[in-house]
Amino acid sequence: MDKFVIRSGNPLSGTVSISGSKNASLPILAATILSAGKCILKGIPALRDVDTLLQILKELGLKIERKENGDIWSEVSDERNSVARYELVKTMRASICILGPLLAKRKYAKVSLPGGCVIGVRPIDLHEKGLKLLGADISYKHGYLVANVKQLVGTDMYLGGTFGSTVTGTANILMASCLAKGRTVIENAACEPEVQDLALFLTKMGAKIKGIGTHRLEIEGVKKLTGATYTVIPDRIEAGTFIVAGALAGKNVTIKNCRLDHLSAIIDNLRQMGTEIEKISNTECRVRQAKHKRPIDITTLPYPGFPTDMQAQMMVLLALADGISIITERIYPDRFMHVAELNRMGARIRKEGATAVIEGRSKLWGAPVMASDLRASAALVLAGLVADGSTEIQRVYHIDRGYEQIEKKLQKLGANIKRVFDKMPTTADE
Ligand code: EPZ
Repeated sequence: MDKFVIRSGNPLSGTVSISGSKNASLPILAATILSAGKCILKGIPALRDVDTLLQILKELGLKIERKENGDIWSEVSDERNSVARYELVKTMRASICILGPLLAKRKYAKVSLPGGCVIGVRPIDLHEKGLKLLGADISYKHGYLVANVKQLVGTDMYLGGTFGSTVTGTANILMASCLAKGRTVIENAACEPEVQDLALFLTKMGAKIKGIGTHRLEIEGVKKLTGATYTVIPDRIEAGTFIVAGALAGKNVTIKNCRLDHLSAIIDNLRQMGTEIEKISNTECRVRQAKHKRPIDITTLPYPGFPTDMQAQMMVLLALADGISIITERIYPDRFMHVAELNRMGARIRKEGATAVIEGRSKLWGAPVMASDLRASAALVLAGLVADGSTEIQRVYHIDRGYEQIEKKLQKLGANIKRVFDKMPTTADE
């Protein structure tokens, strides 16, 4: 398994270009199952999670090609297999986003249940509820969810649970209802930019969707969706991660190809801490570190609130603030695996239920640490950039799931980070 070795000391400066959004690409790729023609997708990042989904789609009879310019061409060529195997699904929970399109287009889907996840219990009851309301018959057999329907029929539904709206659940029901008979209304739909992007792609394929970007989606089912060409949005979490890198160690870091309108909560919190963020345009900003980092309190919330996917990275900055900060996790109450590793690097963080109390201190020190999930790994990389001495991060396959060439992008900004390759194959799960 590869590892990263990071030596601190180099101030970051230069320009970094943000890749296409992982969490927009996954449902958009899944939506190509619905298409009666060829889809051309631009900006899909080269990531392990994307590769996993492409493999699943190929097994489901899609002809997929990645062209030299990075575009992905996808076309359904054989609809006989509608089974997504455990061996692939278990490596990525987001594989569940093929369920809605398979059911809508092929009237049958058998998808392995994804299994446990380090960031907490991640049920799919809301996906099931929505599909059942559209008329699907759903059962569970030998670790698989089996869904059948003669014809999905639109209806009104409320799609919310204890933790609010569901991103992938909304994506699944949205995709399914595009080919349902009649009108579907999804109340409490997730309105994350990635859901908006999916809705815009579906619209390009011929779907009729009203309320994009709001918590109420209204879908008028159509008989057929066509092929379409589409460019996915930039990854707001990758952008946020590099903005935090700039806030930690940036002399002058320019972040380009981002969408600042998707980053409001992150930018607002960083500015409250004293970080200088200069908006150049909606797609470009410049970040400089603050000498004194003010402590702040953050609560993670559905969009447009502060994203859970940036919680770990912000914790690194707060660990170096001039006082006590509090982070409350309202999406995944157990998503705090990074706390113990950051404490090993000298941070003073105490976890109390779904809350972390962070006592800022003047420095962190390098240590051998272990990546546990995607965003926790990103936090350790950020900590390594400023920790005294050398930091060794094991199991970086977690980071390869969602950050395109993070070490190369950081090296370009002047960071002293190198990947130490291991010849052993990685078979780890999410
Ligand atoms: C998406 O996961 C993202 N993944 C996650 O990003 C992100 O953390 C999450 O949304 C929240 O923003 C993708 O887009 C591929 P949810 P998703 O359904 O859709 C509960 C990353 O690091 N819930 O919006 O699976 C759930 O347990 C990843 O890139 C139910 O109770 O998240 C959670 O508490 C990690 N029942 C809350 O809702 C359900 O049926 C929000 O989950 C579904 C969800």
